[in-house]
Amino acid sequence: MTTKLDHIETASVDELRSLQLERLQKSLQHAYDNVPMYKRKFDEAGVHPSDCKSLEDLSKFPFTTKQDLRDNYPFGLFAVPMDKIVRLHASSGTTGKPTVVGYTQQDIDTWADVMARSLRAAGLSNKDKIHVSYGYGLFTGGLGAHYGAERLGAAVIPMSGGQTEKQAQLIQDFQPDGIMVTPSYCLNIIDELERQMGDASQCSLRVGVFGGEPWSNGMRDEIEQRMGIDALDIYGLSEVMGPGVAMECLESKDGPTIWEDHFYPEIIDPVTGEVVADGGQGELVFTTITKEGLPVIRYRTRDLTRLLPGSARTMRRMDKITGRSDDMLIIRGVNVFPTQVEEQLLQFPQLTPHYQLEVSRHGHLDSLRIRVELRHDHASADLHSLEHHIKHRIKAMIGISTAIDVVGEGELPRSQGKAVRVVDLRKSA
Ligand code: DLL
Repeated sequence: MTTKLDHIETASVDELRSLQLERLQKSLQHAYDNVPMYKRKFDEAGVHPSDCKSLEDLSKFPFTTKQDLRDNYPFGLFAVPMDKIVRLHASSGTTGKPTVVGYTQQDIDTWADVMARSLRAAGLSNKDKIHVSYGYGLFTGGLGAHYGAERLGAAVIPMSGGQTEKQAQLIQDFQPDGIMVTPSYCLNIIDELERQMGDASQCSLRVGVFGGEPWSNGMRDEIEQRMGIDALDIYGLSEVMGPGVAMECLESKDGPTIWEDHFYPEIIDPVTGEVVADGGQGELVFTTITKEGLPVIRYRTRDLTRLLPGSARTMRRMDKITGRSDDMLIIRGVNVFPTQVEEQLLQFPQLTPHYQLEVSRHGHLDSLRIRVELRHDHASADLHSLEHHIKHRIKAMIGISTAIDVVGEGELPRSQGKAVRVVDLRKSA
């Protein structure tokens, strides 16, 4: 098996930091020289790329936000002429215009390299077949996974999302070793595999590379058991690259290692914008240090997590994402993320792992209704007592009062990609 790591994955911290500084200085200069918005923002903040003499100096530079990308829709933040751009992707977003990202050939190569590195970290190699169920198209998931798997030398099965019956059939026929898919869509595939073959853990798959949406460790256990695989966490976002910004290593399974030789991470206090020391919780911010087409300086991801010391690699890890600041619900003064609720629901063997949260407003107060599904094989359960137990557990563990609706298996909508966890009835009220 080709398990040889890139030199930098295990280089000394000193070597890594010095490479990062050199690349950061170039990247700041590249953005300043070629993107009018960065020149204006840096000038307004009274900083110049030459002021970056250490990695800590990055904190003097202004942030970039999704709004900046929207304001410069579609190509205003590209740092190279269109003849150097070889690919465009876009993320739809729930409101307003999509954000558009562009890649040079070198960016596409870097992306394939970090994705291949990510797959290697998952224990996959050129001997393996990899089934890709991330959507192909403007979403970065499908093509990002695809070119990484090819770069690794694996045999790629470019299934894309949807056609769940066929996905399950091909998994049985082609006998892939790895699968790349959002965790919520994987549950859908597992249900279908169980329908077709009984026990999905008997399928050929050995490892899954899951990301694109927040998922709890409870979800990891559920998928691992039912599919008989190791389920690993891959993180990324279009504005920074796509999937493969960070990847969990099979041998440690302790949160994604950030490929820091290309993406420099910081954690900030989302309110004050101050940098938080490693280990502290806050908003993840990335500066790309090798990207040509669309360099981003201090891009605010809105994802909440913390930076942890390196374990299987020199580079730092990130903790599992708690959620996006946009997805945080405030229920009678208590902040809640869907993954926290998920973690509790998965403790109930009577329930399927599919759920939906419904937020509504009564007067000035928001309230939360949780819709869950009863497994077929528990159809005779006492619903009243089950609802009471769920409500009680959520109150005890998260501190919020909820209403629980237990519905029959199969009644809640199934994910085809990124799951919609929250139905917000406040907007229509
Ligand atoms: O979702 C890229 C991707 C595809 C990553 C496939 C991993 C696998 P966007 O559509 O731009 O890009 O959405 C990025 O998705 O800011 C997070 O909020 C969320 N996200 C992505 N991966 C994870 C993860 C792709 N492993 C947004 N855990 C990010 C939690 C994740 N959230």
